[in-house]
Amino acid sequence: MLLGLAALAIALVRADEVIYTDDALAAGWQDWSWGSTIDYDATTMAEGTSSIFVNSTEYSALSLETPVAFNNTFAGLAFDISGDQPDLTITIQDTVDNTQSASIPLSALSNSVTSDNFTSILLNFNNIPPNGGALGNGSWNRITFQAGTDGAVYYIDNIELISTITVAPQFLSAEPLVNNLIAVTTAGDVDFSTVKVNLNGHVVIPADTPSVSITYLTLASSLSPGNLSITAGSSSFTFALPARTDATIDESGTHLISDHVYGINFPTDASYIQELGVTISRWGGNAETAYNPFGGFTNAGDDWYFENRANDDADGWIEWVHAAGSDTLLAIPADLLDAYIPPYEVSTGLPRTQHRTPIQKQFTLEFIKEHFIDQESFDPYIPDAGDGLFPNGSYVTPVPDQNNVYVPWNTSAAKQWLTGLVNKPTLVTIDNEIEIASNTHQDMHPIPMSYDEELSRVVNFSAIAKEAIPEVQVAAPSTCSWWYYWTSQVGFSDNAAHNNTDFIPWFLSEMKAAEASHGKRLLDYLDLHYYFQGNTTANDAPTRALRMRMTRSFWDPTYVDESWIGTNPAQNNEPNPNVVMLIPRFQALIKERYPGTKLSVSEWDSTADADISGGLVTADSLGIFGKYGLDSATYWSDPDPTSAAGLAYWLYRGNGTYFGDLSLEVNVTNFDPDFLGIYASSSTIKGRRAVSLVIVNKNPDAPVSFNVSGLPTGKYLIRHFGGEAGIAKFQTTFELNSASYIVVPGYTAVFLQQQV
Ligand SMILES: *[C@@H]1O[C@H](CO)[C@@H](O)[C@H](O)[C@H]1NC(C)=O
Ligand SMILES: *[C@@H]1O[C@H](CO)[C@@H](O)[C@H](O)[C@H]1NC(C)=O
Ligand SMILES: *[C@@H]1O[C@H](CO)[C@@H](O)[C@H](O)[C@H]1NC(C)=O
Ligand SMILES: *[C@@H]1O[C@H](CO)[C@@H](O)[C@H](O)[C@H]1NC(C)=O
Ligand SMILES: *[C@@H]1O[C@H](CO)[C@@H](O)[C@H](O)[C@H]1NC(C)=O
Ligand SMILES: *[C@@H]1O[C@H](CO)[C@@H](O)[C@H](O)[C@H]1NC(C)=O
Ligand SMILES: *[C@@H]1O[C@H](CO)[C@@H](O)[C@H](O)[C@H]1NC(C)=O
Ligand SMILES: *[C@@H]1O[C@H](CO)[C@@H](O)[C@H](O)[C@H]1NC(C)=O
Ligand SMILES: *[C@@H]1O[C@H](CO)[C@@H](O)[C@H](O)[C@H]1NC(C)=O
Ligand SMILES: *[C@@H]1O[C@H](CO)[C@@H](O)[C@H](O)[C@H]1NC(C)=O
Ligand SMILES: *[C@@H]1O[C@H](CO)[C@@H](O)[C@H](O)[C@H]1NC(C)=O
Ligand SMILES: *[C@@H]1O[C@H](CO)[C@@H](O)[C@H](O)[C@H]1NC(C)=O
Repeated sequence: MLLGLAALAIALVRADEVIYTDDALAAGWQDWSWGSTIDYDATTMAEGTSSIFVNSTEYSALSLETPVAFNNTFAGLAFDISGDQPDLTITIQDTVDNTQSASIPLSALSNSVTSDNFTSILLNFNNIPPNGGALGNGSWNRITFQAGTDGAVYYIDNIELISTITVAPQFLSAEPLVNNLIAVTTAGDVDFSTVKVNLNGHVVIPADTPSVSITYLTLASSLSPGNLSITAGSSSFTFALPARTDATIDESGTHLISDHVYGINFPTDASYIQELGVTISRWGGNAETAYNPFGGFTNAGDDWYFENRANDDADGWIEWVHAAGSDTLLAIPADLLDAYIPPYEVSTGLPRTQHRTPIQKQFTLEFIKEHFIDQESFDPYIPDAGDGLFPNGSYVTPVPDQNNVYVPWNTSAAKQWLTGLVNKPTLVTIDNEIEIASNTHQDMHPIPMSYDEELSRVVNFSAIAKEAIPEVQVAAPSTCSWWYYWTSQVGFSDNAAHNNTDFIPWFLSEMKAAEASHGKRLLDYLDLHYYFQGNTTANDAPTRALRMRMTRSFWDPTYVDESWIGTNPAQNNEPNPNVVMLIPRFQALIKERYPGTKLSVSEWDSTADADISGGLVTADSLGIFGKYGLDSATYWSDPDPTSAAGLAYWLYRGNGTYFGDLSLEVNVTNFDPDFLGIYASSSTIKGRRAVSLVIVNKNPDAPVSFNVSGLPTGKYLIRHFGGEAGIAKFQTTFELNSASYIVVPGYTAVFLQQQV
């Protein structure tokens, strides 16, 4: 379905700069590797006299650096590799500006690397896998081959920067689209006069492209049901165009779509926010629970050996995010045992992902080897830092003395911080997944969080947040998952102690009571984290189809969850307990327990940012959020703008063109949500109402076609991603002569907006 880049016929013209051929790195190139055993003169397996043998432990790397940046003067990188499909991710880095290319999985370049022989790999800098796009400008000076969780063992040889890559002319895809278009993607210098379109035996005559070139051919007459064949050069493409499905749009509208549903956790920079049209940006997550705003530090907790890390300053973060046009959602630490945050420490300024240097050993280590010799595992880079577990998996004892490693944190410290912020957040959350603090931050909060303690912390910190920033809106309790929506980490005895009331309903009632006793609302948004529970590990065809169905868990009262939620006996006292129907379920609870509270989902994801199916899930979900009246949502975490998930944001919000703000009802005959998503809206553009329509075809193999009544004719902008063309994004304008036959190819999301 998706184009393998390796499938393109590519010829190398000239090898320009050799980094390695035999014996040793070429002059100037340096070894900046870490955590790996490397032999630069390995003779066991070599082309020529020797090759490089690499044995990398988990997340460690072969990394080659040159003081003379090669910038954008080369067309690509070539190398030969041998190993049992080593789990490697390649990045091209600029250590001066501290930027890097997309992470390129070796598997996106070749899936057939074996240990019997060398496989030649070419990385085209103008078409960077997995999602396309050019490497772009940069003082590129470092190439890193990083191993995954299980390490990697391989031989690598003939590493060269290539100055010219000639792409053989080829038609890659040609697909019917909307009313009367054929979208043709090409590589190299093709001859368009060879394109012939044949619909039911009759011959018809016939922007923004990050990874392949696209040309739109407008047909002399509209597409219609039947057999379509397109021949172009020596390629041919055939489709069975289905009979029309009737759809009806009611232009009168139902409700306003909240702008805040198009949010992202930690967008990378201002251009990211503008390119994807991000409306709200969240600062949160496990590390931020342990953010020390006075020291600029977080603690990784259980995520990574309880180590402190230098962190951005929240005030500066809010400033640039607001300047880029996005609102903000800031987590206020609140879950620490009466209460501590990491102290000031030596700042290395190193980004999180980079290899740690010895200076970071000066960071506070709670579960230091010297004190707890017998631990399950230690950080491979800082062997003194343990994971806080005995080898049998139970918590080490005694709990380290917090006075040695933390400074106090409490509501007055939080108030001092929030009052002192020059830039105020739009919303705050009270901590993050506070209910599982005894797992994520066992050092700070070893005792399981109870209903009462969690409520008390939310009430106390919300009250001071509103004293410090009167206009701020509070979202809580940012509960991690379905299980904890209904109980606490103490267990069901805690439910029993609260009249057998499930946690979130109880929490809503208590927050309503807190409003009465405080004389003001302390909870503006009920905030949840929601991750689809189906098993999507095997990214095969059945899993992708499952992924397409799982969006139903956001809304559908008939969708029995295809996960433990759907099969386990009820873990809660809620109606229909094997069905999630997240948005209507919690809207109903809010109505019953604390009317007027909004609903937000500050963490969710598609389960596959880089896969087309993950992009379609994201596009479908964004449509669902608008249709079902969710008030805010922020994706975890920042999908690459060229990834499939990133393109879903671009589809709805990219570059200043926005899906409308008034949700319109769309009815579709025999609507099957496993295979289709369809969302309509209108907005006022230049003083006139304009309709927008998003259609997500979740079927990988077949186009769908619609007869849409209520869709005005005239000029439209069309954006789309997916289909035979691969994940890349495209857009053009076209004239909708009659709404009676609109085609959407398989595995494609399209956005149509009336031009007024
Ligand atoms: C790679 O290194 C590990 C230790 O990190 C060792 O156990 C393993 O045998 C090595 N593999 C090879 C092929 O040298
Ligand atoms: C290894 O690759 C070389 C060059 O591609 C080829 O000539 C040789 O037959 C291959 N050997 C094996 C065992 O596949
Ligand atoms: C990259 O550099 C070239 C040559 O210096 C310049 O023409 C081009 O505008 C730059 N592109 C970007 C995206 O900055
Ligand atoms: C690469 O770019 C940097 C600045 O961006 C410049 O100083 C350097 O000379 C360039 N190197 C080459 C080889 O063009
Ligand atoms: C399309 O092709 C199929 C099979 O080749 C054939 O049965 C059918 O009649 C054709 N339909 C039209 C409208 O020509
Ligand atoms: C959609 O269907 C519902 C239920 O049959 C109906 O009430 C509504 O008017 C329909 N809306 C449109 C736009 O056809
Ligand atoms: C795990 O090991 C520790 C230290 O050896 C011991 O004290 C503890 O009882 C063990 N826990 C279990 C559940 O076996
Ligand atoms: C609250 O935290 C601040 C800042 O760390 C500390 O100075 C103060 O003593 C603490 N107050 C209480 C009552 O613990
Ligand atoms: C919240 O504030 C109340 C009143 O000051 C206090 O009794 C309670 O202990 C506080 N809760 C927590 C978890 O610190
Ligand atoms: C306990 O729950 C029952 C229903 O589940 C309800 O009728 C009753 O009012 C509750 N009692 C209290 C004290 O909230
Ligand atoms: C999830 O699917 C993968 C791949 O099919 C399988 O290996 C794994 O055991 C499954 N996990 C669970 C929890 O079922
Ligand atoms: C963004 O929109 C502007 C104005 O419509 C246009 O000039 C520009 O080319 C667009 N950029 C992209 C990347 O689409």
